[in-house]
Amino acid sequence: MRDERIPVAVLGATGSVGQRFVQLLAAHPWFRPAELVASERSAGKRYREATDWRLDAFMPEIAADQRIRGYNEDLESPVVFSALPAEVAGEIEQRMARSGHAVLSNTRTHRMESDVPLLIPEVNAEHIAVIETQRRNRGWSGFIATNPNCSTIHMVLALKPIQQAFGLEAVLVTTMQAVSGAGYPGVPSLDMIDNIVPYIGDEEEKMQTETQKLLGGFGPDGFTPAEFIVSASCNRVPVRDGHTECVSVRTSSPATPDDVIAAMESFRGKPQELDLPSAPPQPVIVRREANRPQPALDRDTARGMASIVGRVRPCPLLGTKFVVLGHNTVRGAAGASILNAELLKEEGLLPL
Ligand SMILES: NC(=O)c1ccc[n+]([C@@H]2O[C@H](COP(=O)([O-])OP(=O)(O)OC[C@H]3O[C@@H](n4cnc5c(N)ncnc54)[C@H](OP(=O)(O)O)[C@@H]3O)[C@@H](O)[C@H]2O)c1
Repeated sequence: MRDERIPVAVLGATGSVGQRFVQLLAAHPWFRPAELVASERSAGKRYREATDWRLDAFMPEIAADQRIRGYNEDLESPVVFSALPAEVAGEIEQRMARSGHAVLSNTRTHRMESDVPLLIPEVNAEHIAVIETQRRNRGWSGFIATNPNCSTIHMVLALKPIQQAFGLEAVLVTTMQAVSGAGYPGVPSLDMIDNIVPYIGDEEEKMQTETQKLLGGFGPDGFTPAEFIVSASCNRVPVRDGHTECVSVRTSSPATPDDVIAAMESFRGKPQELDLPSAPPQPVIVRREANRPQPALDRDTARGMASIVGRVRPCPLLGTKFVVLGHNTVRGAAGASILNAELLKEEGLLPL
């Protein structure tokens, strides 16, 4: 039977995030992984030969025998998902956008540019309007849209309902980030066993600036960063998947823990309104148990697409504190890009 789904390409398809793209797209109702692209080391090989498959389910058949393409080959897919290392993403993603592709990127390279949307569809779907400016500024027939860093996205999903209901004045966050966030093979095992590494390059800056863009203003003159302060401390911990973050916030108007929980649980956005295929029915799920969320138990809730909050309680310093956990390669990376593509398709912005 003919596969009528929209063909899409994955750049960096052999990597940690790339594999997650392949897995999610193989089962996707609208998109099919038609072109898999990786470095010169892999180009020309079959996907099964070039990829050290690290996910717990089998490698999807639709991908296993595909020949991996090199970055200089022309791609036919109108939609290109990028899971490239930042060092090489800039030029490659721009070339794809110039030649008419919709590029949905996980990479930090273009996130903070003034004509590039940094999207979480539940939080700032209206930022897609900047795509028109981007095309005009750059003379591109395609475009680049990005999703945030894997720890930013889960924190911001939890912050948005608080900001909407009570306003935000300050955010203090300490992360415990999974090893898969560093790609594969990632952090050497001798650095990780029996250990915590209290530094992840550029991560703290990304959490601060991306949060301000996501929760800031947007109008005809572009983006205005949110004015509240964000202070982040980021740590790598010996967890396989799932970033856990301890967050304290100062709100503009008073909020009890029950008020915060009610705001989070009733929060919905554009993906739920449009019933997008990858949308979790409830983007922020609150656990009441004293010892949840935990990465081993909770990261796959809602197929890894929700942010799981727990321990909402008073903070003697800032007013309210809580823990948020989320899957870093699903909602924190590949799943986020795919949800962005679903939104853009529904809004008529994909070059189909
Ligand atoms: N891991 C996460 O949780 C996470 C979350 C959010 C965002 N991100 C971002 O997503 C991107 C990918 O991360 P990852 O963790 O998947 O990395 P990764 O496991 O190291 O995979 C990198 C991919 O890029 C390809 N590649 C490597 N060097 C290349 C080069 N010089 N030219 C062209 N292609 C090259 C690799 O192909 P070969 O196999 O052929 O070498 C592989 O497919 C990064 O920008 C990262 O910051 C990651």
